[in-house]
Amino acid sequence: MHITHADHVIGTSAPSPPARRVFLVGATGTIGRATLRALVRHGHDVTCYLRPPRDARQTAEYARLFADVSMRTGVMDRADAIVRDGLRGERFDAVISCLASRTGTPRDAWAVDHDAHQALLAAARECGVPQFVLLSAICVQKPVLAFQQAKLAFERSLMASGLRYSIVRPTAFFKSLSGQLARVQAGKPFLLFGDGRLTACTPIGDDDLADYLVGCLEEPTRWNRVLPIGGPKPALTPREQGEQLFALVGMPPKFSQVPVALLSVIIAVLGVLGRVVPSLAEKAELAKIGRYYATESMLVWDAERARYDVDATPSYGAQTLVDHWRKLMQGDAVDDRGAHRVFT
Ligand SMILES: NC(=O)c1ccc[n+]([C@@H]2O[C@H](COP(=O)([O-])OP(=O)(O)OC[C@H]3O[C@@H](n4cnc5c(N)ncnc54)[C@H](OP(=O)(O)O)[C@@H]3O)[C@@H](O)[C@H]2O)c1
Repeated sequence: MHITHADHVIGTSAPSPPARRVFLVGATGTIGRATLRALVRHGHDVTCYLRPPRDARQTAEYARLFADVSMRTGVMDRADAIVRDGLRGERFDAVISCLASRTGTPRDAWAVDHDAHQALLAAARECGVPQFVLLSAICVQKPVLAFQQAKLAFERSLMASGLRYSIVRPTAFFKSLSGQLARVQAGKPFLLFGDGRLTACTPIGDDDLADYLVGCLEEPTRWNRVLPIGGPKPALTPREQGEQLFALVGMPPKFSQVPVALLSVIIAVLGVLGRVVPSLAEKAELAKIGRYYATESMLVWDAERARYDVDATPSYGAQTLVDHWRKLMQGDAVDDRGAHRVFT
């Protein structure tokens, strides 16, 4: 029997899963925006809950961003406010949270990554929402930093809540590995910590990660699980990333090495000064975040063998870091790195 392309597509496609009513928080962030796009693409009924816009420009931006979905605003740190202004006592099938501290400072991390999430969980329970999908981070597997402790503490609450949960721990985002594009294009060297081979990661694209998060609604193998997830392999060291970046811009590779010990000195000095000036203590924590990423791979940690294991790190999606850089160069993508900056 001759099967045309159209027959083949219709004959083999799985039936579409039923549309879900989803309460999305963090929808203005990088992964939240991608998740909103994925939810709409999959035909789900989305309500976004966010803090009120700061000014007229943001009001106009949100009107565009949330044109096709329902948008509600209010505070994130009180369950009663989330019930009243967000969930409004209505029936929702799931909460998806892409909410995260924008700074990573200890105070903000505990306020957002922990306290606001506790409020959200309490509100979800009060309104009988049965499912909760959480964007977390792979680095909480080796917790050293305040934001990691805050995230882990909330992960534990979610696991104990009785709700169906999916805790998604991605490796590295493209935006966090794109800060040196402009330097390289300007003819400057690519900066490396140590020899640039101290770490490796399998970065995951925003849309691939969003697709994975949305898939947690329907995919039973992702229920009540902690889910490390990366993008396509092989894993790349920072030196390999630099080599790929120079190849893309058509220049010979040129590297400058920064000793990790320099970060340790900065952390020690800021730590001492931070006892007198609290803002310097916050800077010390940010420098610790920088040192963590300079020395720890974003791959699954094998505690028994005390090493990172690329083979044990699941892969999802097809988007590559080079694809993303190409889009940035062509003006087809823009990164919002916010406070997550190293070498820019
Ligand atoms: N960067 C990486 O390579 C990487 C890798 C793995 C995992 N992660 C994890 O991914 C998360 C970051 O995702 P992202 O880059 O998409 O985040 P992002 O762009 O910084 O967005 C954060 C979202 O949280 C909201 N938010 C923050 N503080 C808030 C508050 N006090 N009240 C209400 N809303 C608040 C922001 O709203 P506003 O727009 O109003 O500020 C925004 O929607 C973090 O948990 C991080 O650990 C990151």
